Amino acid sequence: MPRPSSVKDYIRTIVDFPHEGIMFRDVTTLFADPRGFRMAIDQMLHPYAGQPIDKVVGLEARGFILGGAIAHQLTVGFVPIRKKGKLPGTTISEEYKLEYGEAIVEIHDDAIQPGERILVVDDLLATGGTAEAGIKLIERLGGEIVGCAFIVDLPELGGRKRLEEMDMDVHVLCEFDGL
Ligand code: PRP
Ligand code: MG
Repeated sequence: MPRPSSVKDYIRTIVDFPHEGIMFRDVTTLFADPRGFRMAIDQMLHPYAGQPIDKVVGLEARGFILGGAIAHQLTVGFVPIRKKGKLPGTTISEEYKLEYGEAIVEIHDDAIQPGERILVVDDLLATGGTAEAGIKLIERLGGEIVGCAFIVDLPELGGRKRLEEMDMDVHVLCEFDGL
């Protein structure tokens, strides 16, 4: 196999996972490669070079892997947004829609101070429901969102449009057609 030349080339597609008809875009193969992982982190940060950022917020679960590396690179702190019931301190929460049913995400209520400039990161943007819930949590704490960076966008699911309608700066490294 030739050496991958772009971030997209490192992403593996698993057919019919987690259920039939879904093409799962698996970024573990990107994370596992030293060149691929560094390329992804560098490219996610590229548009924000020179912009003041106070904290990186990562969305569970793969956003933690990216967010930790990005926060380290920027020498800023990292804040997790987690699924309900995982954070030990006092939290605020937001509900969002899944394909079937609803889910809830939470953030510690003291994790962001009013006026702090926040970069939001996750691996993949699909419907945008997860990111929208995360954005609402950050804004409820008074954070100012500098941008939202993702490795993958699935344009057919409309997440990018949804976040742009919330006046977000959305940065994605690659797109895949289909679900
Ligand atoms: C996936 C992905 C994003 C989210 C995108 O996470 O990692 O976080 O879905 O979907 P959306 O734009 O339609 O909200 P998932 O909820 O599968 O959980 P995980 O990251 O904890 O595995
Ligand atoms: Mg996720």
